[in-house]
Amino acid sequence: MLKEINEQPKSVRETIGSRIVPNSKTVFPDLNLTKEYLSSINKVFIVACGTAMHAGLSGKTLIESLCEIPVEVEAASEFRYRNPIINEKTLCIFVTQSGETADTIAALKLAKSKGAKTLAISNVVGSSITREADFTVYTHAGPEIAVASTKAYTSQITLLAILAIHFAEILDKNLEKCEELKNDILLLPNQVEETLKTAEQIKNFAQKVYKEKDMFFIGRGADYTVALEGSLKLKEISYIHSEAYPSGELKHGPIALIENGVTVISVLTNRLLVEKSISNIQEVITRGAKTFIVTNQELNHEFDEVIKIPKTNSVIAPILSIIPLQLLAYYISKEKGLDVDKPRNLAKSVTVE
Ligand code: AGP
Repeated sequence: MLKEINEQPKSVRETIGSRIVPNSKTVFPDLNLTKEYLSSINKVFIVACGTAMHAGLSGKTLIESLCEIPVEVEAASEFRYRNPIINEKTLCIFVTQSGETADTIAALKLAKSKGAKTLAISNVVGSSITREADFTVYTHAGPEIAVASTKAYTSQITLLAILAIHFAEILDKNLEKCEELKNDILLLPNQVEETLKTAEQIKNFAQKVYKEKDMFFIGRGADYTVALEGSLKLKEISYIHSEAYPSGELKHGPIALIENGVTVISVLTNRLLVEKSISNIQEVITRGAKTFIVTNQELNHEFDEVIKIPKTNSVIAPILSIIPLQLLAYYISKEKGLDVDKPRNLAKSVTVE
């Protein structure tokens, strides 16, 4: 897992590949979606499981903000059994590292039977899902062996960002925003490298908290989606119970669980939401929580641990902000003496129901 975490500068770089060339339109040689088709789409579904679904949540923000088409993200295991409203005006995107996840493949078959176009995002060339989908685009993360998905997630978001730009360019929408985002994406591999330098600081923090029973992850907007993924990583490999909440939801229930010494992990990467989130963090500090903050903002407050990461556009910030949380889960698991790469009860690909 650590090897795969450290490979992320390369996997993000490879996923960008030659899809973004400065001063020209994004290129996807295997995708021939026309302006006429994309203009006819009134709904996009992104369907996936686990970490891939969390990457899909970033895809939603990206497609909605650049293409102005509503996007729904759903767990494949729910989607396949609830008769979703789909027709030929629906584009369904299926995200899967392995391309072998049973629920995701079944969801794709259902969408296809209802007349939607289906687009698979996979990391494995020739995997089962790629044989069923109308179109496939590949992340180029390289083989991912550890059960806990890390580099696949950051590659999936990178690819979803480039795809969202591609759709917007075809639709002639938000072209200026697209140009800015392309430049920001090209900076990511070096910024991932920079973010990985926080490892030592995170290891030290892990040594202080590895015996804890519960942890909480909070954030707003894109930061909340990273909280969900960080919480999943921690559960999977450290067996610590954790919950992820939108920061603003704390007061609607979960704050009852905050007591002296509980660790609350917050992601703060959106300038427009940072003050709101800080006031939520103050509330947990008042109740005795220990605070671990991942941020790219200048903060004038006292927290127990602050992990500084590079600044980027908030829609792609999860590619950087997840890295400290991957490292935190990894070091906690190591500290507990667990088998990081083969956690109990879990398989790398869930090929049966
Ligand atoms: C991630 O750490 C998990 N092991 C799991 O949630 C995984 O992302 C999920 O099973 C989906 O797998 P896939 O991407 O191969 O479809």
